Amino acid sequence: MQRKTYATINGDILTENVKEIIKKYPDYKYYFGVVKNNAYHHGTKSVLDLIKGGVNYLAVSSLEEAIKVRKYATEIPILCLEPIHLDYIMDAINNNVTLTVESLEYAQKLIKMDLYDTLKIHLAIDSGMHRLGFFDSEELKEAYDLLKENPHILIEGVFSHFATSGVMDPYFDKQVKTFLEITKSIPLKEIPIVHMGRSLTLVNHPKLSFCNGIRLGIILYGFSQSRKEGKSLQSKLRKLKRTWLQKKYKCSKTILENDLSLKTAMELYTETISIRPVHKGDVVGYNTFKIEEEGYILTLPIGYADGVNKSFKYVYINGEYLKIVGDCMDMLLVFSPKKFSIGTKVEIFGTHIPISSVCKVLGINAYHLFNQISNRVVRVHIHENEEEEITY
Ligand SMILES: Cc1ncc(COP(=O)(O)O)c(C=O)c1O
Repeated sequence: MQRKTYATINGDILTENVKEIIKKYPDYKYYFGVVKNNAYHHGTKSVLDLIKGGVNYLAVSSLEEAIKVRKYATEIPILCLEPIHLDYIMDAINNNVTLTVESLEYAQKLIKMDLYDTLKIHLAIDSGMHRLGFFDSEELKEAYDLLKENPHILIEGVFSHFATSGVMDPYFDKQVKTFLEITKSIPLKEIPIVHMGRSLTLVNHPKLSFCNGIRLGIILYGFSQSRKEGKSLQSKLRKLKRTWLQKKYKCSKTILENDLSLKTAMELYTETISIRPVHKGDVVGYNTFKIEEEGYILTLPIGYADGVNKSFKYVYINGEYLKIVGDCMDMLLVFSPKKFSIGTKVEIFGTHIPISSVCKVLGINAYHLFNQISNRVVRVHIHENEEEEITY
């Protein structure tokens, strides 16, 4: 690695996270690891750590992503959550990728194809997100019957995706009801895998009895989403309001607090590549910051093209939290009252600046933070104390 800007990905942490989740929520048969967008930007190699922990199905967004995952994991089934263009169905079969069938029109075209090998499919149901999936029970039945007749097609699963987290939210219950209404035209019990939930569903709701699969994304990467009940008056009032809403709208039970012990696996580092003295009254960067005391500008080879801009506010260097005073596409400028030498390691987030605090400062969630750390940043996979640099 020439440009020393890198994200470390601790694979052992990912494995432990999966084990912990399965230990605390053991009632599913299928634990899908959602590894879209380069495993939430942890790097596709992370699929091996997730599988080691117990994930037994993977889910991605596109055939391209599935093929990248296949380079690392040859056996595990992979569900493509978006419909794959029919021109590429053979690539899906050849790579053992499970297809999403989400409309009657798609099913009608699919059965006309000359399939020579078994194609596994999951039927997507639109239970309220209005994004993908069957929304009409009769159309679902027609598609089911057509697909069932085809000797090369195996209807392996049915799924849906919640539009809401469902905490004190009557819309969550409505989505479950809609799913059951739409699927009443097909023999749901005969379909091997039924999956509706994601990370928040797992921790916030009792298990849905008819689901034996759960798709897990952000939770695998270290976010337990536990919301501790505080003891302050404000927390007590909030709890009262929630209980009142729950009764008023007859919402099903939600669980806010959980005892999952998970860790984040990604840390982001760079190092100083230049240093210069600055004086009171100097203006640095693209005229972004006026210096008010004598000190130094440290130049770091990381910028908004890597996903880091001056909204990040601080970096950590050798026991000091130093202010970011300028950003460019490729570099950040940091003010330091004291001199550091070139080549000093800099933490953008990690042990001293936790991801959760960066998210708070930036006003974004962990999904956005992970996904904005671009692929230009080298991923250093750590596995049982061995390190491997990978550029995706
Ligand atoms: C269809 C589908 N299922 C599951 C997930 C995983 O969600 P989460 O990261 O909240 O667990 C996603 C994430 O975008 C998704 O689109």
